Amino acid sequence: MFPERVVSGMRPTGALHLGHYHGALKNWVRLQSEYPCLFFVADWHALTTHYDSPEVIGNNIWEMVIDWLAAGIDPQQSTLFIQSRVPEHAELHLLLSMSTPLGWLERVPAYKDQQEKLSDRDLATYGFLGYPLLQAADILMYRAAFVPVGEDQVPHIELTREIARRFNHLFGREPGFEDKAREAVKRLGSKRAKLYQALRTRFQEQGDDEALQQARELLDQSPNLSLGDRERLFGWLEGSRKIILSEPQALLTEASRMPGIDGQKMSKSYGNAIGMREAPDSVTRKIRTMPTDPARVRRTDPGDPGRCPVWQLHVVYSDDSTRDWVRTGCTSAGIGCLECKQPVIDAVLKEQTGFIERAQPYIDDPSLLRNIIADGCDRARKLAQETMRDVREVMGLSHD
Ligand code: TRP
Ligand code: SF4
Repeated sequence: MFPERVVSGMRPTGALHLGHYHGALKNWVRLQSEYPCLFFVADWHALTTHYDSPEVIGNNIWEMVIDWLAAGIDPQQSTLFIQSRVPEHAELHLLLSMSTPLGWLERVPAYKDQQEKLSDRDLATYGFLGYPLLQAADILMYRAAFVPVGEDQVPHIELTREIARRFNHLFGREPGFEDKAREAVKRLGSKRAKLYQALRTRFQEQGDDEALQQARELLDQSPNLSLGDRERLFGWLEGSRKIILSEPQALLTEASRMPGIDGQKMSKSYGNAIGMREAPDSVTRKIRTMPTDPARVRRTDPGDPGRCPVWQLHVVYSDDSTRDWVRTGCTSAGIGCLECKQPVIDAVLKEQTGFIERAQPYIDDPSLLRNIIADGCDRARKLAQETMRDVREVMGLSHD
């Protein structure tokens, strides 16, 4: 019914590190050539936890967007924007809040987890409770088919699906829906109409999912339908409601266990990260001083890559033959740890050269960056306004 859009957001944390690149950005770069993608800076989301330190937002936004571009996000292909510059997100959040049961939000695992983890902050706020609903608004606004996220975000996508279903259930009613749907079927043309009916019956009477899929494809390939008819026909396939907001699917980003320089998961807050555009001597120093298999005290002690965080970096950065060399050399004490680290250092520095080169034009001329975002905000806003027109209408708010 809607183009298969991809939507994802990132909180503005400032300059990004290699964990962000291998955990998320690399995936975004791949997706942008397969789907229309919208990527945005979730600045309002940052305020839900850091409302008392707005300085975390300002510059961080631009540093982060530079890193997106450095990673290879192409503003010609992807729409890049800032959440707060598309105020429709706030409107949709508000409207969805009317019918969202409190229990659904209280049950989201991150709600309690984060309150405990960030115990130095007062997160018993209205805004923080609404965090996942704001996220649902971000996604539903663009009728996204796919949302690339890490595992921790999956409950939020599930919630988004429930919110969409509830919304369609409550507001997808329309006086005379059946009649209008039947009229719309006729407008498909007799051949398509017949096929649509047959597939609909097969789905409704036998629960045949393939028939449902085929019928959806048929609608996708019927060019001359009005938006209203399209929504009716999609809704009528499954029941007797219009589908106004479509249910997204999480695209689980393969968990890259990118270790930080202390062997724990790489994270800015652990102080163990390597920046995407960090200076080469600093990167070299960090990797050279990384801990290795604790059992390898002396050069002559054999080691076990399975217990060594440097090995995790080889998993990300090295080819098979280098990895064989590591495995053999480590377990036989044939190579030293510094020797073992060198190919990783080389690979990281090489990767960063690309990042640094791609970032340079935006550092030299920040107006380029501002223009990309201004353009992205305009594009996003147009799409958002289309959705809001439909949402307002079904909620009785189009007072013209
Ligand atoms: N909650 C997400 C995170 O912390 C960021 C986010 C906000 C997001 N809105 C989104 C991700 C919409 C995907 C889609 O990582
Ligand atoms: Fe780790 Fe490599 Fe040293 Fe083995 S040789 S302990 S894999 S750094």
